Amino acid sequence: MPTLSATDELIARIQRLKAERQAVILSHNYQIGEIQDVADFVGDSLELSRMAVEMPAKVIVFCGVHFMAETAAILNPDKTVLLPDLDAGCSMADMITVEQLRALKAEHPGAVVVCYVNTTAAIKAESDYCCTSSNAVRVVEGIPRDREIIFIPDQFLGDHVAKQTGRKLILYNGYCPVHYRIMASDVAAMKAEHPAAEVLVHPECPGEVHELADQVLSTSGMCRAAKASSADELIIATEIGILHRIEKENPDKRVYASCQWCDCSHMRVNTLEKILWSLEDLQHVVRVPEEIRVRAVRALDRMLAVAAS
Ligand code: 13P
Ligand code: SF4
Repeated sequence: MPTLSATDELIARIQRLKAERQAVILSHNYQIGEIQDVADFVGDSLELSRMAVEMPAKVIVFCGVHFMAETAAILNPDKTVLLPDLDAGCSMADMITVEQLRALKAEHPGAVVVCYVNTTAAIKAESDYCCTSSNAVRVVEGIPRDREIIFIPDQFLGDHVAKQTGRKLILYNGYCPVHYRIMASDVAAMKAEHPAAEVLVHPECPGEVHELADQVLSTSGMCRAAKASSADELIIATEIGILHRIEKENPDKRVYASCQWCDCSHMRVNTLEKILWSLEDLQHVVRVPEEIRVRAVRALDRMLAVAAS
């Protein structure tokens, strides 16, 4: 009988324990390839929120970052939500505090607050609507035109939504440091080198990069567009973990990352070993205080009611 490699043995143990624990493994599109391959579902923030609700499981091992696991915990108070490493944070989510949001609300009394899902539970509890990169335009389109809108924290997604909807949004100065490193000059140079390539850009990229895009999309939107594209070459402007899925699903296409070193250190802390330990010890449980959870769930329910555009 052939002997199993250490990785195969690790995966076999994860699968055994997952069944025993009645657990599911959810992975964001930016996770390393071996985590994506072991997961029950791989997707973007909106899809993962929906799957956390829909998949029958007692335990959810969330392979993504803290705000994603926290969102799953808010939506599923009866499930145990685990994050394999609590250091998996999000630099953008850390850019706005409740005090800063309250100050902004005080400056614009009566304004509706739309928060990007990349925020803490406490910020969601202070917001009226939540959205992800895939439905932000539709969420804003659904708000009556006579209402002022505060959009937090991502200035680049906010600016994109303002342009797409023709609405004037009150923006905050948050941003993702990973996407901020994607330079328009690099994308322009790649386009010059591969003129037939389709350029897919995540809305967290700076505005000058959006201008070079064929389409501005969420991570799963990029995966769908890559499959649907008639182009043989694709230029992908987002975190590089997504290349694993796009290359796997499109073996006949050449896929170029617009920035080779744009990897999110928070996403990278998760490993197969940590998933196993997480299942063994039921660690680390992500809990949201009930007083915050019941307020945050309103904004999230409104997010789930709006489909991806
Ligand atoms: P998506 O919802 O498009 O997957 O984006 C999440 C994220 O954190 C991007 O940096
Ligand atoms: Fe947060 Fe940026 Fe990492 Fe996404 S890529 S999780 S926005 S730091």
